[in-house]
Amino acid sequence: MSEKIRVLISEEKVEQRIQEIADEINRDYAGREIHMICVLKGAVFFMCELSKRITVPVSLDFMSVSSYGDDTKSSGVVKIIKDLDQPLEGKDVLVVEDIIDSGRTLSYLLRILKERHPYSIRLCTLLDKPDRRVTAVDVDYSCFQIPDEFVVGYGLDYMQKYRNLPYIGVVEFE
Ligand code: IMP
Ligand code: MG
Repeated sequence: MSEKIRVLISEEKVEQRIQEIADEINRDYAGREIHMICVLKGAVFFMCELSKRITVPVSLDFMSVSSYGDDTKSSGVVKIIKDLDQPLEGKDVLVVEDIIDSGRTLSYLLRILKERHPYSIRLCTLLDKPDRRVTAVDVDYSCFQIPDEFVVGYGLDYMQKYRNLPYIGVVEFE
């Protein structure tokens, strides 16, 4: 079986929207510092583009969790593959995600991160598929809501491929 990629959101539109969200975050966090947590690997591209546009002081940390095998359906199992290097105590934490689908990964992650006593914790996602939500998640910043289609690019993969695409595309199997 082979795949074709159809452009859903162009590179220009993605970057324009990231700038808008960055402007909003800059306003909301004026006079504070942001401790950004990138959920590997999918959120890496988004985190880079977003953090470059943040004008308040930023520190970065990385975490890797897995809720999927090499499949397009959630297994519902969340595993910590790599934990954060730094403590969260007293920090204004912004979790940066690539996509919220069932919501299982993020609701689990937010729960364990809140136990580390950050001063505040908010969630910023590049994409949101609200139709697929199984577990409720409070999304503070969302660049795009998308329909229930499997997407790749801008960090998102299908079987580890296509993360490097500079746009967001839909995988079409033929
Ligand atoms: P959730 O726990 O179902 O919300 O799954 C979130 C994770 O599933 C994301 O961080 C992605 O890694 C992956 N995922 C969900 N939908 C897609 C998609 O359309 N393309 C690529 N990865 C996806
Ligand atoms: Mg992810």
